[in-house]
Formats: sequence, structure tokens, C-alpha cells
Amino acid sequence: MPPRLPGKIPIAVTVNGVKKEAEVEPRLLLVHFIREDLGLTGTHVGCDTSNCSACAVLMDGKVVKACTVLAVQAGGREIMTVEGLAKGDRLHPVQEAFLAKHGLQCGYCTPGMLMSAYALLKENRHPSEDEIRKGISGNICRCTGYAQIIESVQQAAQQPVVTAGSGGESVGSAQNCVRPLGTTRPGPLLGFSVLGIVTTAFISKPVFTIDVEHLEQEEGESGCVFCH
Ligand code: FES
Ligand code: FES
Repeated sequence: MPPRLPGKIPIAVTVNGVKKEAEVEPRLLLVHFIREDLGLTGTHVGCDTSNCSACAVLMDGKVVKACTVLAVQAGGREIMTVEGLAKGDRLHPVQEAFLAKHGLQCGYCTPGMLMSAYALLKENRHPSEDEIRKGISGNICRCTGYAQIIESVQQAAQQPVVTAGSGGESVGSAQNCVRPLGTTRPGPLLGFSVLGIVTTAFISKPVFTIDVEHLEQEEGESGCVFCH
């Protein structure tokens, strides 16, 4: 282990699924750790009053303003930034929806807006307009007037859901399928439009049927667009 720097505290934090170890000053804000130490500049700083949420990231699945959290408080936690949304060069459906519906103009608020929208849709797959407004209410956009942002989230909410159960009964939707441990296998099951079987640790029923009417799925991938 390298020698500890004076005045610094060692932390280990998982960022977008990758474990990072660092030594940080106790006063270092998470947003600066993410941007300057890790080089993930998608997370923005839009104010100095903790009002704009341009810096929003997920910490253990919950939206936090990274300018209000110390880097040391992220030790042992899982952080997801906007860079964690896309899979390689394939945008996440929430990002696709913002593109399609013109949910951004200058783009400065967009990373935080995307993370809030993503978190909302993980909790609530079919939010009403009021629920969307509430879900992004902490995020300030100075350009769009919000109408296209709301339409973007509504479009993202049209993504397919995941149903579960060996009998095909629906016991959950995409928000239940948080982190599959297994991989999908192609194969028909009980006459449903099944492209794969995924094993998760999240619910007791290990077999998922996947409603994939509009979902492009590649063998070996999770069937749930909200899983990583
Ligand atoms: S940078 Fe504005 S709330 Fe964090
Ligand atoms: S798109 Fe410019 S601040 Fe939102």
C-alpha cells in the first residue's frame, strides 16, 4: 500500500461499477473528486448555492447533489454518474429520449437532469406528468422551459417492462430488476414473447420472462434496459 499522504484520508468508492481508491482531503467535495480526481467531467457545477442539481449523481441508488457531499462520505458507497448510463457507444434509453424530444439546449443541466429522470423511472416506471415535475423539481434548466424535458421523460417511460414468474405472471416491472447476476439465454418459454432468461438475486423467483416487444436484445445481455 502506498504511503498515506499527510492530512489525507483513504477512501474506496465504486464509481459506475468500478472500484476506485484514493486519498482525499477531508474538505474535498464529491463533485470535485468526480470531476478532477476521476476525470468524469460529465457531472457539472452549475451554482455555488446548492440549488441547481447540475451536479446530481446517484449514491447507493439515490439522487444526491455531489456539491453537498464530501468525498469521504462516499467511501464504501456506490456512485453512478452520467457516464454510467450509456453502454459503450449505445446511449441509455433516457438519453435517447432526451435527444429525440429535444430535452436539452445548451446541455449544462442535462447530466443532472438525466440522473434525476433515471432515478425517477427506476422507482416509478409510469409516472404521471405531475410526478415527473416533482421528480425533476430540484433540477434547474435555464434554457428549455422544461416542456421538452417532461416529454423526454414521458418517452423514456414508454420502454418495455420486465415481468417475472415461471407461469408468466407479472410480479414486477423494470424497477424490480435491479442488478441481474446471470446472463440471458435465448429460448421460447410458455408462449410468451421471451428472448431470454435472467437470474437475479433481487426476488425469489429466479426466472424472468421479458416483454421485449420494442426492445433490441443481444445475447448475453440483460433484458432490462434499466439494469447495468
Ligand atoms: S452545483 Fe448547483 S446544486 Fe450542485
Ligand atoms: S439545457 Fe441549458 S440549462 Fe438546461
